[in-house]
Formats: sequence, structure tokens, C-alpha cells
Amino acid sequence: MKNTKHRQIIRRTIEARISGRVLPIIGSLALALFQSLEVGAGEPARTRDASGSAAPSTLTIQVDETVAKVSPILHGLMTEEINYSYDGGLYAELIRNRAFLDSATNEPVHWSVANQSGAEGRIRIVATHPLTDKLPNSLEVEVKAAGAGRNLRVINDGYWGIPVKPSTTYHASFYVRGDTPTKNRKTGKEEGTRFEGPLAVSLENADGTIVFAHAETPAVNRHWQKIDLTLATGADVKPTGEGRFVISAANTGKFWLSLVSLFPPTFHDRPNGFRVDIMEKLAAMKPNFIRLPGGNYVEGNTLWERFDWKATIGPLPFRAGHPSCWSYRSTDGMGLLEFMGWCEDLGAQPVLAVFAGYSLKQQCVEPGPLLEPYVQDALDEIEFLTGDAKTTYWGAQRARCGHAEPCKLTYVEVGNEDYFDKSGNYDARYTQFHDAIKAKYPQLQLIATSREAKTRTPDLYDDHSYRNPDAFYKDLQHYDKEDRKGPKVFVGEWATREGSPTPNFLGALGDAAWMTSMERNSDLIVMHCYAPLFVNVNPGGMQWKTDLIGYNNLESYGSPAYYAQVMFANHIGNVTPKSAFAGATNVFLPYSVTRQTQTGKLYLKVVNPGATSQTVNIELKGVTGIQEGKSITLRATDPTDTNSITEPTKVVPVTETLKAVASSFGYAFPPWSITVLEMTAK
Ligand code: AHR
Repeated sequence: MKNTKHRQIIRRTIEARISGRVLPIIGSLALALFQSLEVGAGEPARTRDASGSAAPSTLTIQVDETVAKVSPILHGLMTEEINYSYDGGLYAELIRNRAFLDSATNEPVHWSVANQSGAEGRIRIVATHPLTDKLPNSLEVEVKAAGAGRNLRVINDGYWGIPVKPSTTYHASFYVRGDTPTKNRKTGKEEGTRFEGPLAVSLENADGTIVFAHAETPAVNRHWQKIDLTLATGADVKPTGEGRFVISAANTGKFWLSLVSLFPPTFHDRPNGFRVDIMEKLAAMKPNFIRLPGGNYVEGNTLWERFDWKATIGPLPFRAGHPSCWSYRSTDGMGLLEFMGWCEDLGAQPVLAVFAGYSLKQQCVEPGPLLEPYVQDALDEIEFLTGDAKTTYWGAQRARCGHAEPCKLTYVEVGNEDYFDKSGNYDARYTQFHDAIKAKYPQLQLIATSREAKTRTPDLYDDHSYRNPDAFYKDLQHYDKEDRKGPKVFVGEWATREGSPTPNFLGALGDAAWMTSMERNSDLIVMHCYAPLFVNVNPGGMQWKTDLIGYNNLESYGSPAYYAQVMFANHIGNVTPKSAFAGATNVFLPYSVTRQTQTGKLYLKVVNPGATSQTVNIELKGVTGIQEGKSITLRATDPTDTNSITEPTKVVPVTETLKAVASSFGYAFPPWSITVLEMTAK
């Protein structure tokens, strides 16, 4: 009910805007815009002729006249551990609570035990048998009664189930040690039993009646021993997201488990890598960069819950993980070098956010000597990523972790949203980081996360903008007048917040309109990225609504807003030609136009947020030849149309040949649509 009312209000707002009824609230600025006027390149067209009656809309593009350059790295990705983005998302690990650290009260959450045909036993988390000092807990399994056909089964239920697919080879691994009798010093008698296994490992359905894949370990002994196994499913397996991972024992005694892991095939077969379907969706976005590792996740709720990069490198048994600010614990399986692998897999560069001494619960380190260790930590981090493996300490550590080549790093952001810091000392903290980083790495471009950084001039400011569609529509000129001589801009987080868990078409329309304004201003806006990127759509999976890509453990889908991003990033030139829109009646059509000078490709993007089709005469000036091209259209039949895990492709772009293009041609932009027209104009 509430939703329907909300939809009606949104729809009325859009229709009111189209019919011109919003004029009084827009005020004098809008009155000026509503005259027949020539607008700057790509400003939304809201025109009316002097009598108020309809006049044909004309978009004139002076193809041979450039008004601005387009940033070559405009479109990118923003990421952090939120909504089960990595654990339970991109990071392909399937076992949940793999190191038995997820419960503050040491409950073996996501683990259970089942007795088969009269087997008896129990599980509990203990700290008596640590694998390493970083992974102090292990799962103690005590098998009291078992035998052939009477297995004690230890079960992990994964992230809302274990996904199992046909003809797939999974890599299971864990550490195990078995009990051994010890001599009682007083009595001299041996106590306890020896446990040598072997253990059976399987992928099963939820109630254990179907075994999809099965393997057996060798005998175990009293020392920690790493087991690696493959579990291969047959071609006849029906895909399910409700599988279970099971380790079972047919012998009595005790054994301990640590760091239990299960990976499906990963993107590019990267060890400790990423989910294939999600990576394919990201690759389609052609991201130039990834802003990492957050977001609030950089800061943590407290200083000791920040993203402590040094704790996220090296072998997994030495990564403790940490509580994150989004209500669940992070394994840190997705560590700093995994972020680099992610960038490399997508051909994107990292935009590295370093912790700047401020955490979400207002813990703030005083600038000066107390901040020095954090500044040094950032310098170490940069050296770890970029330092020579032979001549720098941290470069050598990177090489030891398996990444001999330095990583490409150009942009470093100092903090995240430090304008929330009530102590108001970001300017001083930024200055300290700025001076230290620029002294050692003058080639780096520094991004201030707040415009409060004034004592030193950052190379870029990071602006964040979460709004509803109307707020974006009203603010499309936001960057038009900004000083071109000052710092550049990184729109490091933004989204039209319409729809949940992922944006509906209203969200996509607001996004596309905002992207036309960023594209038009991309001589100033070097980069932008939508946030958040991911959401696990299972109950409890979402901490922040309106996220670009949704998934469960088996499948993923792109929202309409995702497809808008794909369309924009895949069709972009290197310059903005001069353009002007004139003569339409009550038309609101945000647009942007770019041109690739080498190929002569012209990309016109037009957003029609209204309920009626809008025909525009497109005049191409300053060209001698125009070739056919294509149109890519994303449209909805209702503005609240959306994609979902059950209906993943309801709203997807449609590509058609763009025929009859000439130096002057008419084009009807459908209601509720986002259109890219691509043509070659030389
Ligand atoms: O994107 C969600 C959150 O919004 C980010 O973590 C934070 O930077 C912003 O407030």
C-alpha cells in the first residue's frame, strides 16, 4: 500500500515536472531556463517558446568544435565490505565462519553436528588448540559413538546455503589434528584415545539425502596438517543454493579443525579469488579504477576496527580478520593484495584510501606526534604497493606475498568522509599526510575526502552525493560553474536512492541524468563511482539499501542502474563538442554528447524521465560524412520497474541499428528511457 502511494507520488512529481507545474517551486532560475535559450553543452533542455506553445526541440551539435576534454578514467567502481560484498559476495569463499571467530560468545555459528544412524558426538569452539596466534580458535569434534555407516557429520551451512552446480570442481581445504593419548603424570597411565581418521568430505543437499560430491582425507595425526581435496560434481546435478559442506567421521575420538575453506572455480582461476558471475558483470562495466577499501570500512567504528592493511596480507592462517562497521565480522580473506588482484583482473587501477586517524564513533587522533604512526602506516602501505622488491623493505614484503611487480598507483585518498569528524581537525590531519606523502611520492595525486582541507591544496576533492531523482534533476548544473583552476573533483560515492535492495528504473533515470552532468563536466570531474556496488539479497544481507548489483549464493543480477552504468562507460569519447538545445515545449531531457576524435565516433546520451515520448531534431554541424550507427535503449513500461534475483532481466538495454542518420534527423526518445545514440561523424 505504502509502496503504491510512494510510486504515485514519484510519478506525479515527474509528470508535474514534464507539464511545467513545478515552475513555481523552481523559481526564477527555472523561469530563465524555460525561455527559448541556448544551453551549455548538455544542460537539460527545459524550453518553451514565447507564446508558451509547442516548438520543435532541436539539438545542435557542432561536431568539429571542442568545448572540453573528457577524463580518460571517468567511470570506475567504489567498494567496501558492506551488504556482504566480499565475504558472502565477491570473495568466492563458500564456508561461513571458517576460522570459528564469528561469535563473540564462541558459539559455533553456521556449524552444526548431525548424527547418522546412532552415531554420537558434539562440537564446540576451543582455544586449547590454536592454529596460529592469529587464529586461536578451533572446532573440537568429539565422536563418542560411530562406525561403518554410522558417521558423525559436521556441517557448515555457508552464506545462506552452499551453492552447488553441475560439472564443477570445488577446492576444499582445512587444517586438522587428531587426539593422541597422553600419560597421566600421577598414575603413569595413558589417557584419551588416538584419532587418526580418515575423514569423509562431501557436498550434500540440506538434509543429507543427496551427496553431490565426495572425497576422503588421508589418515590424520596429532600435528596440524593441511588437507587439500577436490570435490567434483557430476553433469546431472541440479543447481542448488541450499547445499551443505560436510566433514564426517566414522571413528571415535577427538579431532580439531581450523580454517575450513571451500572454493568454486574463480575468475581467471585466481587462487583465493573472486566469483565468476559477479566479475563478469563488473568487467562489462569497463571500470577504469576501483576505489578501495571503502567507505566507512576504511575507518571502522573505532581506531582498532579500522582497515588495518598490515593485518590483511600474507598467508590466510595469519589473518585474524576484524569486526567491521557494518555489523558483521570480516575474514580479511579479501586483503590488500587481493584488492590489487581484483584491479588487475579487471584492468583497473586502484584508488587507495588510507586511514587518516578518524573512526566513525568520533575517535580522532590529534594531529602532530600522535598521528605520526598513522602517517607512517600510510607511507608503508604505499611502499608495499609500489616499492621495488629488491631495494625497499615493504616492496620486498609484497614480493614475499607473491606479487613481485610493483602495483600501479596514481591516486591516494586521505580518509573517508572526515567532514563527520566533530573535532574539526581534518585540515590539520590532511596537511600532515599531504606533506609526508608528497615529500616521498611527489608523483602521487592526493584526494582530500573533505573540502575542509584548505591549508594544503589537494589535487582532488572527493564529493559524495546520495539523493532522490528529483534532487539530482534539480542540481544538474552543480559543477558547471565550478572553478576550473582549483583542485579537480572525484565524485567518489553517489547514487539515486530509489528501490531496494537494488534501484528501480526511477533510480536509473536519476543516475543517468546525473551521469550526463558529470560527463559534461569531466574536464573537472576526473573520476566518479556509484556506491554501494553490491548487496547480498538474502534476509539480513543488506545494511544499506539501493545497491547496484544484487546476488544470492548462486546467481547475480544487475539493476537497471547497473545497465545505465554499463551503457555510459562503454560509449564515451575523449572530447565534448559544442552543443545547444532549443525550441522544445516543457521538455526535460538531460543529455550529454562526447566524441572520440580518433575514430570519429559520436556518442549522444539522452535521458527521458517523463511519461511521454520526446522527438528531437538532431543537427550535426561541421561534418562532411555521417555513417549509420546504433542505438542502445534502456527503458521501462513503468518507472518503478526493476530487476530482481527472480526476474533478473526485466529491464535490460536493447541495441538496434540506427538507420537514416544524416546531418539532420529526427529521433523519438521513448517515455522513461535512457538512450545512447552512437554514430560516426567525420
Ligand atoms: O556507501 C555507503 C556508505 O556511505 C559509505 O561507507 C560511506 O562512505 C558513506 O557514508
